[in-house]
Amino acid sequence: MSTMARSVGDPHLTHGLRAMTSRRVLVTGGAGFVGSHLVDALCAHGDDVVVVDDLSTGDRANVPDGVALRVVDISDGPALGRAIEGAHFDAVVHCAAKTKVVQSAEQPELYRRVIVDGTRNVVDAALATGARDLVNISTGGAIYGETPTCAHEDSPLSPVSPYGRFKAEAEAIVQRHGLRGISLRLGNAYGPRQRDDLEGGVISIFLGALRDGRPLTIFGDGSAERDYVYVGDVADAVLAALDASATGIYNIGTGVATSVNALVGLMRRVLGASPEVQHAPVRAGEIQRSCLDVSKAARDGLWRPRTTLEDGLGRTARSMHLG
Ligand SMILES: NC(=O)c1ccc[n+]([C@@H]2O[C@H](COP(=O)([O-])OP(=O)(O)OC[C@H]3O[C@@H](n4cnc5c(N)ncnc54)[C@H](O)[C@@H]3O)[C@@H](O)[C@H]2O)c1
Repeated sequence: MSTMARSVGDPHLTHGLRAMTSRRVLVTGGAGFVGSHLVDALCAHGDDVVVVDDLSTGDRANVPDGVALRVVDISDGPALGRAIEGAHFDAVVHCAAKTKVVQSAEQPELYRRVIVDGTRNVVDAALATGARDLVNISTGGAIYGETPTCAHEDSPLSPVSPYGRFKAEAEAIVQRHGLRGISLRLGNAYGPRQRDDLEGGVISIFLGALRDGRPLTIFGDGSAERDYVYVGDVADAVLAALDASATGIYNIGTGVATSVNALVGLMRRVLGASPEVQHAPVRAGEIQRSCLDVSKAARDGLWRPRTTLEDGLGRTARSMHLG
């Protein structure tokens, strides 16, 4: 992995930002996929950003020039406290987490420590630095379980993995007195800089395979459906959440469920590719259908998705020198 920082400069990833006063913002997990796009969006707006990340899955190269990076494990409360000692922040965006459903069943204690204890430490750190707003990046895909119809925020939670259960606990922790806590439950985020090894999401993994001339591996028969949300739209949602007075839970997806087979078909059409496809058994802990009803965010004037899967796929492919 590269160790060079980079400059901010991908205008389509920071579209739709509204005029706001600049703030000092702490971003946990800002060297990761989603977090680094949030850092870009905040920097583009003129905010002063500090990143906290242990670089376990993130990359120093994802943190733009001029943004301070403190390498620290958020599950170590005293170390986190020392890393930001004396600093003042107006807001915290909490993105750091272990994120793999299957791995969470194999290493539940690690996931509990990072997601539950880590979130508690981040909330304590937010309060200690004077922050009043905390945006917590949560998950819709792993928290609702099967969603035959798109889940809304009041749908019952039925997480099938330790990852989903701990993310639900983390949501409860951010609703603490003294902070305006808002949790954004993301669908399946995709876009530039998502890892295309097994740590990544299906779109980046498929595009990586396409780039390298490898077959696409579909787990099961390809009928499993997900709600794919473009990372630039997620960044817009976080900026809107920082600027709003809303609290509680918001789904951030598209309301559209796309099957893996349909995704492969779209890749063929958008990229003119004809990939070889192979099948493997369904993985334990995977659900069949995940879809988020995003009407609450629209109704409250907070946010709505803007990027079609076709457009987002094209942008992501181009960032990987495909298409
Ligand atoms: N990518 C998605 O589709 C998706 C969907 C729903 C929710 N989310 C949530 O979005 C957030 C970011 O996920 P991502 O997909 O960008 O994954 P990612 O692995 O790219 O980002 C996570 C970041 O957190 C850092 N991190 C992990 N453990 C840490 C620790 N103990 N201390 C400090 N830093 C630590 C990693 O190094 C990495 O930079 C997570 O909270 C995840 O649960 C992601």
